[in-house]
This record gives sequence, structure tokens and C-alpha cells, in this order.
Amino acid sequence: MDHKKIKSRERVATYGEVFTSEKEVAAMLDLVESQTKRIEATFLEPSCGDGAFLSEILKRKLGIVKNIYQKSKYDYERYSILALSTLYGVELLPDNVQNCRERLFSIWDSEYLKLAGNSFDEDCRKAASFILKKNILLGDALTLRTPDGGPIIFAEWSLISGTKFKRRDYDLHELIESSSNQLDLFDQDLEFDPEARTFIPKPIREYPITDLKELYLND
Ligand SMILES: C[S@@+](CC[C@H](N)C(=O)[O-])C[C@H]1O[C@@H](n2cnc3c(N)ncnc32)[C@H](O)[C@@H]1O
Repeated sequence: MDHKKIKSRERVATYGEVFTSEKEVAAMLDLVESQTKRIEATFLEPSCGDGAFLSEILKRKLGIVKNIYQKSKYDYERYSILALSTLYGVELLPDNVQNCRERLFSIWDSEYLKLAGNSFDEDCRKAASFILKKNILLGDALTLRTPDGGPIIFAEWSLISGTKFKRRDYDLHELIESSSNQLDLFDQDLEFDPEARTFIPKPIREYPITDLKELYLND
């Protein structure tokens, strides 16, 4: 069923809150179809509302994970978690942040439960919900700040081997700076990567390589 496009006239007037319909989302994502089918391709939906785009991308990615890995619960778990971990959102209104996290969790979880049946692993579900807590954040997509004026910190999740993930935290402001052409050569937080021949942002924090089922222990 399609979501309601508008919650209230006040919210439309104050926040420009009009949600994109599923049909429009699907048509727009068809334009970047090959990316939506890459399990590890990252997506950021700024002003994500309740995640119209992220939820459709997640469905498409999980379709691919299911096609390839449905015979192995082990592989399905690690690749479906990887797919989920590539989706990022920033949103100004707390209820939308909550709705977005819940919507994405429910898509991931219903597919997982269908596949795993009674042998589902509660720690894997905890990992999914923890990753969403870190990836869908309350903040202003224009100033790139949280409501208390702090930086918006996103976690990058890399699947290293087996079910082990590496987490590195980055300041969204620096990520956006480093992807623009206007580089400040004296910016101490960017490092020149001779192989990629570009400046890359340094993580503000790195975590030890951790099994996906224990990710939530490092809050
Ligand atoms: C037009 S809606 C789009 C929502 C969603 N991306 C979609 O396509 O359905 C705009 C969203 O941006 C949020 N918003 C407004 N100003 C914002 C800001 N400065 N930073 C982050 N989100 C903002 C609103 O609360 C609303 O959820």
C-alpha cells in the first residue's frame, strides 16, 4: 500500500514535508538501476522523511541478496546486513527519523524471518537495528549539524571476512568537502592517497574488527 504523501498542512508549509510516492521513487531509481543492484553501493538520502528512497533501494538490494544467497543462512545474514549498512539518511524531524528506522528495519526483518524461519538469530536482528540507529540520523541537511550544533557522524561498515565488520566513523561535513572539487590543501583532516590520487577524509574514530553479532556492543 502506498504511504500518505502529506501529514499536515503545517508540516508542508514549515518543513516542505511531502513524501514521494512509490511509483515516482521506482521510476527515479530505475535511472540508476545498476547501482541499486550493487549490494555494497552506498546511498545517502538527505531530508529522508520516512525513507521513501532508502526503503525501495533496500528492497531491491535484498532481492539480489536473496537470489544469490538464499541457500545459506550464514551468507544471507552477512550480505543482507551489508546491504542494510550501505543506506544513510539525515532528517530534521525526530518522528520521521524514528519512522524511517522502523520502516527499514521492518523490510529487512520480514525478509530475514521468511528466510531463516525458526532458526533466526536475535543478535543478527540486533545488528540490523543498531546499524539503522547509526545510519539514519537526526540533523539538518543544509548546515550538516545535529540539533545541538554538533557534527553529523556517520559510520562506514566494511565486510572484512566471514561475518567480521570494520566500523569507521566520519564527519559528514568532511565527507562532502572531500568529494567536492574545492579542496583546501591545508585542511588537516584530509589525507592524500597516492594510489587513488585524491584527498580522502580521515575517520574520526576506528573500531576493532568485530563480528556482526557483536557490533551493537560498541555503541
Ligand atoms: C519533500 S520531503 C521528502 C522526504 C523523502 N525524501 C521523500 O522523498 O519522501 C522533505 C523532508 O525534508 C525534511 N527536512 C526539511 N528541512 C530539512 C533540513 N534542513 N534538513 C533535513 N531534513 C529536512 C522534512 O521534514 C521532510 O521530511
